[in-house]
Amino acid sequence: MKKALITGINGQDGSYLAELLLEKGYVVHGILKRNSVAETQTTRIEHIRRDLNLAYGDMTDLSSLIYVLKEVQPEEVYNLAAQSHVKISFDQPIYTAQATGVSTMNLLEAIRLIKPDVRVYQASSSEMFGNTVDEDGYQRETTPMNPVSPYGCSKVFSYHLARNYRNAYGIFVSNGILFNHESPRRGSNFVTNKVCKEAVRIKIGKTDSLALGNLDASRDWGHARDYVKAMWMILQLERPDDYVCATGVSHTVRDLVNYVFEKLDLDPESHITIDERYFRPEELDHLKGDSSKLKKACGWEPKITFEEMLDEMIEHWLDHYSESGQ
Ligand code: GDD
Repeated sequence: MKKALITGINGQDGSYLAELLLEKGYVVHGILKRNSVAETQTTRIEHIRRDLNLAYGDMTDLSSLIYVLKEVQPEEVYNLAAQSHVKISFDQPIYTAQATGVSTMNLLEAIRLIKPDVRVYQASSSEMFGNTVDEDGYQRETTPMNPVSPYGCSKVFSYHLARNYRNAYGIFVSNGILFNHESPRRGSNFVTNKVCKEAVRIKIGKTDSLALGNLDASRDWGHARDYVKAMWMILQLERPDDYVCATGVSHTVRDLVNYVFEKLDLDPESHITIDERYFRPEELDHLKGDSSKLKKACGWEPKITFEEMLDEMIEHWLDHYSESGQ
C-alpha cells in the first residue's frame, strides 16, 4: 500500500484529498499544527479520523518535518499547508512569508535530506499571476507572474523553489497552479462561503445585512472535490511539471451574490453594504484559467459547475441552521 503525507490535512483541500487517497487504498498521514482550541482543529476530518495517521508538526519547524518524514517514509507528499487568506497576508506579511514561502523550503530541504525519491505536489496558486492576463483573457503556465499580495509573493517563491529542487536535485516536484476552489468546507471568511452563509442567515432572520468589499473582481471558481483529483493525477504522471487547474469560466463577486440571493428569494439591494475593511491594498481584478495542458497530460476536467457548487453550499448552511436549531 502506498503511503501519502499531507501537510494541511485539516484544511478544505486536505480533507477532500485525504478522502480520495483513502478510497484509493493509500495509508494516509497528515501533519497538524498545534492549535489552542483542539476541538475545532479536526472538524473537517472528524468523519475519517480513525483511518488517518496524524502527527503534530509545524511547517516553520524543520526538525518536526524531518522527524515526520523519517517516521512515515511516504511515496507521495502533498504540500497544502499555508496561511492561505490573501487579505490576512497584508495584515501578517512576515508570518505569511514564513508559513507559505519558507515553509516550502523547509519541506523540500527535509525531503532532500531524508527521502529524495518521494513525489511532491506543491500547492501553487493563480494568485501568483497577479494582474497579468494573456491577450485572449486567460492565464496559463506561460503567463508572467506579477503577484499583488504578500501571499502571492510567497507562493511565487515556493513555486520557483519547487522548480529549482526539480532541476538541481532531480526531485519529482510538480506545481499545481490551482485557481479558486470552494466547497461547504471552505472557511467562511472567503467570499463564496461568506456570501452563502450570511445569505442563509438573512433568510432565516438571524441577521439583516451583509458587508462585502470589491464586488467587481472576477474569479474562476471550481469545486475543491474536483481539484484534489487533479492533485493526485499530477503526481501519477511520468514526469514532474507545472500545470494550471481551472474551469475556464469566470464570474464577478456581484454575479456570485446575485445567484445566491436569487436562489434564496432575497433582494441583494436590500441587504448588501460595502465596507472598506474588506478592500485589499492591491487587488487582483481578473482570474480565468486555461487548463488545456493538464487536460492533455491526464484527461482532467472539472465536473461540478459554479451553480451546482453554490447550491451545495447554500444547502449546507440551511441544513446546518435547521439541525443546530441556532
Ligand atoms: N474574503 C473576502 N471577503 N473577499 C471579498 C469580500 C469579502 O467580504 N468582498 C469582496 N471580496 C473579493 C476579494 O477582494 C477578491 O477579489 C474575491 O472576493 C475573492 O476573495 P477570496 O474568496 O478571499 O479569495 P482570493 O481570490 O483572494 O484567494 C483565494 O484563491 C486563491 C487562488 O487564486 C484563496 O483560496 C487563496 O489561498 C488561493 O490561492
